[in-house]
Amino acid sequence: MDLKVLYWTFAWLNLLILSAFALVGIFRIRKGQVAKHRVLMLTAVWLIVGFVVSYAIKLALLGREDLSKWSTPEIWLLRFHEACIAVMLLFGGFALVHGRRFQRTRLLSTDEDAPAPNPTHLTRHRFAGRVAVISMFLALITAGGVLLGMYERIR
Ligand code: HEM
Repeated sequence: MDLKVLYWTFAWLNLLILSAFALVGIFRIRKGQVAKHRVLMLTAVWLIVGFVVSYAIKLALLGREDLSKWSTPEIWLLRFHEACIAVMLLFGGFALVHGRRFQRTRLLSTDEDAPAPNPTHLTRHRFAGRVAVISMFLALITAGGVLLGMYERIR
């Protein structure tokens, strides 16, 4: 088995698992379960951090992909997938920053004097979170296509 294809197979499984955490996290917040939403979203974030670290190690040990044997549509699919990952990282980061602000508010604190969350922060968090989650699912689907192409080439 090609080591790079093996690496990308695990990376895709990681993306599948973290997408499941994020999806359940959305179901939880829709039921008003803020603490459970927080834990599930932070788990998804840590799985993304794990991927980023593993990708740096993969680059150092195995290098980049050789795109010379890829067709033009395959390269476009790869570029679109990379764009989805970039949007996911950017907006996921925004959602995380806003989410952390809720820590000391009535949403999560047991302190009776804890302030109500700032409505603007809630709106921004929800918007950034939705963009991150949509781009995450697009990244998952397009990564599946990119991976299938890799399996085709090593057949
Ligand atoms: C740091 C911990 C987090 C806390 C405390 C938190 C808290 C919340 C709260 C209170 C809401 C409801 C907002 C509202 O009513 O307007 C919400 C919604 C949402 N959060 Fe988070 N969040 C956290 C992390 C994240 C992360 C990292 C993401 C995604 C990358 C995310 C994605 C979302 C999404 C998509 C919604 C909207 C759900 C819907 O469609 O109704 N959250 N979050």
